[in-house]
Amino acid sequence: MNSNELRKTFLDFFEKKGHKVVPSSSLLPTDPSVLFTTAGMQQFSLYLAGKKDVISDFGSCHLASCQKCFRTDDIEEIGDDTHHTFFEMLGNWSIGQDESGYFKEGAINLALEFLESIGLERKRMHITVFGGEGDILKDDEAINIWKTKGIASIRECSKKDNFWGPVSLTGPCGPCSEIHYDRGESFGCGRDDCGPNCDYCKRYVEIWNLVFMQYFKNESGDYELLNQTNIDTGIGFERLLSIIQGNNSAYDTDLFTDVISEIKKMSLNEDERAYRIIADHIRGSVFLIEAGVIPANVGQGYILRRLIRRFIRYGNILGLKKRFWVPLVEITINKYKDIYPEINKKEIYDIIEKEEDRFSLTIDRGLKIISEVNKDLSGKEAFDIYQTYGFPIEMIKEELDKKGISINDKEFELEVKKHQEVSRIGAEKKFGGVGTGENTPSLHTATHLLHSALRKILGEDVHQMGSDINNERLRFDFSFSRKMTPEEIKEVEDLINSKIKEGLKVKKEIMSLDEAIKSGALSFFKEKYPEEVSVWTIYNEDSGEIFSKEICAGPHIDDISKLKQFKIIKEESSSSGVRRIKAII
Ligand code: GLY
Repeated sequence: MNSNELRKTFLDFFEKKGHKVVPSSSLLPTDPSVLFTTAGMQQFSLYLAGKKDVISDFGSCHLASCQKCFRTDDIEEIGDDTHHTFFEMLGNWSIGQDESGYFKEGAINLALEFLESIGLERKRMHITVFGGEGDILKDDEAINIWKTKGIASIRECSKKDNFWGPVSLTGPCGPCSEIHYDRGESFGCGRDDCGPNCDYCKRYVEIWNLVFMQYFKNESGDYELLNQTNIDTGIGFERLLSIIQGNNSAYDTDLFTDVISEIKKMSLNEDERAYRIIADHIRGSVFLIEAGVIPANVGQGYILRRLIRRFIRYGNILGLKKRFWVPLVEITINKYKDIYPEINKKEIYDIIEKEEDRFSLTIDRGLKIISEVNKDLSGKEAFDIYQTYGFPIEMIKEELDKKGISINDKEFELEVKKHQEVSRIGAEKKFGGVGTGENTPSLHTATHLLHSALRKILGEDVHQMGSDINNERLRFDFSFSRKMTPEEIKEVEDLINSKIKEGLKVKKEIMSLDEAIKSGALSFFKEKYPEEVSVWTIYNEDSGEIFSKEICAGPHIDDISKLKQFKIIKEESSSSGVRRIKAII
């Protein structure tokens, strides 16, 4: 089954089951607090929350769609088997059921029937369900239904894994059941403890998320029972397609094979990761431009600029010449234009062409400057070439290396890190909208809380190894030699949430570096701080007890009760001896 057939089979199946097929909404959501559409349910949010009437607008409480989605969290991870910027999501909904509606059992039956109709076997399905947490009860109803369905296993998971939504700060949400599919031993790592969510292999793949929407998360972060119940489901289309086609990765399915073979044909060098980055970013750029985004230094336009410059840069690495992307854009448009006729636009070529020209001017200027360099450079001098001419950071070292000119690496990396911190904060402030601009200092403060909580729970050997914040989440890398247990993750979350409840205050003091270090303030890249530093302390105003103290440029919020709630969404390996946590507030 090719991609067009799979999409059609899904939508036809649900149409036959009485669902109204609704076209994909734009990649740019109407909700200003969210940068892009990341899930199929977004266009139905108000119906799911009971604020609009689904029957009067769609003629049915049962809907199905194939939705264009875009995620920015993991742009650096594109190139592996599973990450994409643009992707599609298949879904079905039963909203505010009348007597014809369905809830958990109906959704489970439909999911099983559809998956079997495309050749998947229920005895290979492993189900994760919500096991209860805090005030929200374990999903016994779903567990009892799954027990009767002849699936391979049922596992109870925490809120972090099996409670879905909301996409924004507030909105409909609920416990969910995920269907993980066992692709068989040949895809496995062979470890005794291998199973769904295995860290070592892709034998078990999550294919479908069934959300049983029963709650509305309100502005104070509390979960209110909705006046109606809904079914909201999401299938990662690329993922299902790669299973159906027997591939490890969607990059090996018909969605990408034409474009990747064209890239290979033109390339002077072999680099599988570069092929995938180019193919992904071209597809992402085509769909962003179609949605109305133009390259800019902020917001959605900044993401587009980044994608275009990145695919051009990877094209250069492969030895591809100016305008190499023209046939690739054409192949991409041809691949999708029957499904999304709106992408067939000349404007797409014009916008990419202009951006490529702007980018090459920058590169030419930078190369000229570098050609004039005839002595080894300090890290700061090398970095100034970026600062002054906008020449891409990663190319400065490469070009200097070619000339046999060395730079002070450590100092250069430090300048880059300092710069990333500043520009990240700048870019996020400009994203605007609820919880983004204002969110940056909040996530920054949450990072300090996390650092300190990890040291209290895992031990003082834990040190910050890196940190990054975008408009949706914080990412924190720290030294620790093994995977954290679910209990440790929960302990860290609980400790932070208890401090948020206590309403600890945050204060800034300026002092000499010596004094700061003597006072026990944690530091990062200690040797490079200026003589005078800012120290940020998070403390209990009544007892004076200090929870966290770090040397940091800021900015931070003044009262951590504003964070409302802290949640770890991922804990994974970053590199040897370094773990990575992604968390949201
Ligand atoms: N709304 C369900 C999902 O995106 O997984």
